[in-house]
Amino acid sequence: MHKKTHNKYLSGLCDKKTIRVLFVCLGNICRSPAAEGIMKDVVKKNGDESRWIIDSAGTGDYHIGDLPDYRMRTHAQRRGLNLTHRCRQIKEADFDDFDIIIAMDASNERNLRRLAPTPEAEDKIMQMSEWFGDRETRYDHVPDPYYEGAEGFELVLDLLEDACSNMYKALSAK
Ligand code: 4NP
Repeated sequence: MHKKTHNKYLSGLCDKKTIRVLFVCLGNICRSPAAEGIMKDVVKKNGDESRWIIDSAGTGDYHIGDLPDYRMRTHAQRRGLNLTHRCRQIKEADFDDFDIIIAMDASNERNLRRLAPTPEAEDKIMQMSEWFGDRETRYDHVPDPYYEGAEGFELVLDLLEDACSNMYKALSAK
């Protein structure tokens, strides 16, 4: 979507009674379930749970039904987050059921654009990095931690906490 149209779409969401967000990565066992857990926590801490519907899905089908990767669960737990999502694959109805579909990296975004059934559905797709604050401008995506060590998982959680907090503020502004 053109940047201006995109911003207009997002500011239109601020007036909606309910905001439905779907986070998407490849496996749906590391980045997107962590984003889901962090966003739910932000919304809960702001007492705003009735306004937000938050879920996650993967473009791949390798881990359907699984809990998040134990490394991600361990690192999240240290920050007080219990990740209980069960892996699922994105489906066409998700493009109707959610207002924003947030890809973790450019590859996820390309896959989502291929799957979008209509131009309106495609307009809902954006990348998580659009919500990164100034501190995080050295990153332009959420890097896949699957083949990384502990630092990779910590980095993902740092980036996601920053992005979720910025997204919450932007979409809650009246
Ligand atoms: P995620 O990480 O996309 O952040 O969930 C991955 C998890 C599993 C695989 C790839 C990425 N995999 O190839 O199984």
